[in-house]
Amino acid sequence: MSDLSTRYLGLNLKSPLVASASPLCESVDNIKKLEDHQLAAVVLPSLFEEQLELESMAVDADLGRGADSFPESASFFPDLKTYNLGPDGYLELIRHAKESVRIPVIASLNGVSNGGWLQYAKLMEEAGADAIELNIYSIATDPAIGAAELEQGYIDLLRYLKHSIRIPVAVKLSPFLSAPANMAVRFDEARADAIVLFNRFYQPDFDIEQLEITPSLALSRPEELLLRLHWTAILYGHVRADLGITGGVHSAQDVIKCILAGARVAFMTSALLRNGVQHAAHVLSELNRWLDEHEYSSVQQMCGSMSHGAVPDPSAFERGNYMKVLSSYSLRANAFND
Ligand SMILES: Cc1cc2nc3c(=O)[nH]c(=O)nc-3n(C[C@H](O)[C@H](O)[C@H](O)COP(=O)(O)O)c2cc1C
Repeated sequence: MSDLSTRYLGLNLKSPLVASASPLCESVDNIKKLEDHQLAAVVLPSLFEEQLELESMAVDADLGRGADSFPESASFFPDLKTYNLGPDGYLELIRHAKESVRIPVIASLNGVSNGGWLQYAKLMEEAGADAIELNIYSIATDPAIGAAELEQGYIDLLRYLKHSIRIPVAVKLSPFLSAPANMAVRFDEARADAIVLFNRFYQPDFDIEQLEITPSLALSRPEELLLRLHWTAILYGHVRADLGITGGVHSAQDVIKCILAGARVAFMTSALLRNGVQHAAHVLSELNRWLDEHEYSSVQQMCGSMSHGAVPDPSAFERGNYMKVLSSYSLRANAFND
């Protein structure tokens, strides 16, 4: 048996397989099941900036400080008071989960602006969360705001958070950045303890009969992992922060690729939703088998060994690969058959 343990966010984990934020981690019973099925840690579903701002407005109203109006945009959201248990229920979940399981419990905040809602991180810390994952899910719809301004906003957000709490902070990043390597280094300088690549964006679909925009959530496919492997392999060795991969991790082979690229942890949600939580034990036993077969004594030993800096020919990660891949495609004869 190889040593599957890893260190992430300063926490000792039994293996690199972690349940990422989703309704799977929304109840203590589920979290216990995830622990029983060998997930090494859990990330709770996110509380959203919009929920927390709404909560603080309600408190202001109760205190007679006046909360003129809730933001108009609030009507687009699900019931903000109860979504993902709501702010109070969420703290209760952290406390109860910490009493019930031994694996680390990572709380999650989702937002983009540097405001009062971030104070909630302190309450999460006091409730016992082992770390916080900050999900920066931003959609840059305002043409007046450029990339530099937005990106500085993300860095300021992290700095504020790091200043207000002592537990480690992971930043879950968007894949839609012009210069992910530069952003990762800046997050590193702002003392991110981990960088998680990448958020999945849930683009709405078009209903062409009703002419309406419809929300859609499709579970991930393993092909989505490639983008994450690519950037993890590039970042490995350039940042002090731990790297984690979320998006497209479905099998033991996927977990192995994540570690080889340089990730300390591989997060899983879609595969657990699709196959049940027992899938995790299967993935870990396959991981063990692979390590034995390839004579690795530990997961840590293999971490980053296929990163950009470690492979003999890193050009596959760069622009030259683009032409090489295109030119390697040969038209199949039947493409022209009627
Ligand atoms: C139903 C559902 C709910 C999710 N809720 C959250 C959330 O609250 N916060 C968050 O950061 N990510 C959330 N995610 C994203 C997952 O944590 C994960 O990053 C994403 O599904 C990609 O991983 P996968 O390929 O293993 O599914 C959710 C995903 C699903 C499918």
